[in-house]
Amino acid sequence: MRLIVNGKTHEVDVEDEMPLLWVLRDMLGVTGPKYGCGIASCGACTVHVGGEPVRSCSLPVGDVKADVTTIEGLGTPTALHVVQRAWVEHQVAQCGYCQSGQIMSAAALLSANGNPSDDDIDEAMSGNLCRCGTYPRIRAAIKTAARELKGRPT
Ligand code: FES
Ligand code: FES
Repeated sequence: MRLIVNGKTHEVDVEDEMPLLWVLRDMLGVTGPKYGCGIASCGACTVHVGGEPVRSCSLPVGDVKADVTTIEGLGTPTALHVVQRAWVEHQVAQCGYCQSGQIMSAAALLSANGNPSDDDIDEAMSGNLCRCGTYPRIRAAIKTAARELKGRPT
């Protein structure tokens, strides 16, 4: 099947039932999305499909009907996405394992809601777990990114 990942078209010879995460990591070498739980409960594998955040560990690749974006395609080393810049500013990551999923969920939130309240952030990020407990910095970074999107000083 044909799969567009981070703007590049790939032809992959896989069963429809294979989870998207397997295809990304094992077939295409796109290793930003992580395997955590495998049952759509931790968010480590979050990517965007058609701009929407999805749990790639639990999405059969045959059901992917739009372009896929992973953390590798969110920004570039010389032009980080606004959420990535805020993550750096707040030094959010500890071990880092959950963080690509956190960033992808945060980016999707800010695409849909440029001025999220604490409740909005908690709701949007509730499916992304962090064993290191970086939640306060995640919330602060999302607020910084939202302010930057609005052109206000941080
Ligand atoms: S690995 Fe996909 S949600 Fe946990
Ligand atoms: S930074 Fe370690 S699990 Fe989130």
